[in-house]
Amino acid sequence: MGQIISTSFDQSTGAPYPFLGQVLITAQEIEQRVCTLGEQITRDYQDSEHLLLLGLLRGSVMFITDLMRQIRRPLTMDFMSVSSYAGSESTGFIRIDADHKTNIHGWDVILIDDIVDTGYTIHTVRKLLLERRPRSLKICALLDKAERHRVDIPVDYMGFSIPDEFVVGYGLDIDEKGRNLPYIASVDLEKYRKS
Ligand code: IMP
Ligand code: MG
Repeated sequence: MGQIISTSFDQSTGAPYPFLGQVLITAQEIEQRVCTLGEQITRDYQDSEHLLLLGLLRGSVMFITDLMRQIRRPLTMDFMSVSSYAGSESTGFIRIDADHKTNIHGWDVILIDDIVDTGYTIHTVRKLLLERRPRSLKICALLDKAERHRVDIPVDYMGFSIPDEFVVGYGLDIDEKGRNLPYIASVDLEKYRKS
């Protein structure tokens, strides 16, 4: 047997990126919350024969793989990749870079993303998925910046509500950096610009 290597970074000292601000949510807090969400989903989908976790790439990858292990029901996993048309600020104009493969007609779909910011991404993808006639469609997001919402969307399963700060870790990135952190940390934008 190989050696067991801890995947946790030292949260008090060795910050692996120079632009991190504060740790907002620890790995342990995430683990506990994901476990609770898994139990909730297990209860809610007792009668479902066709449950699909549909993740948005790439931010939801860590979340979806942890969450699925906490759901005690048969399920399938699929992914979509979408991006905003212009700039970093979400616009509501979404381009589909890669579509899901599953025919979701008649399926119970849980759309999973890392974070709801303005809400435009989830709002737009949700509308598109509803046209494909799933049996049901619910939204699950690890993080929610409620004060930034620009559209009204129902987040059925939400991990944590956070203030209006840019965050990285547990799948979330800033220009593709920071996804591998096992916790959620704020980005010090001043330090980031200099890094
Ligand atoms: P929305 O369409 O404005 O809700 O944007 C959601 C997308 O923006 C998320 O899926 C993330 O990719 C990205 N995003 C928004 N806020 C953050 C953040 O604080 N850190 C990392 N990515 C973010
Ligand atoms: Mg994303």
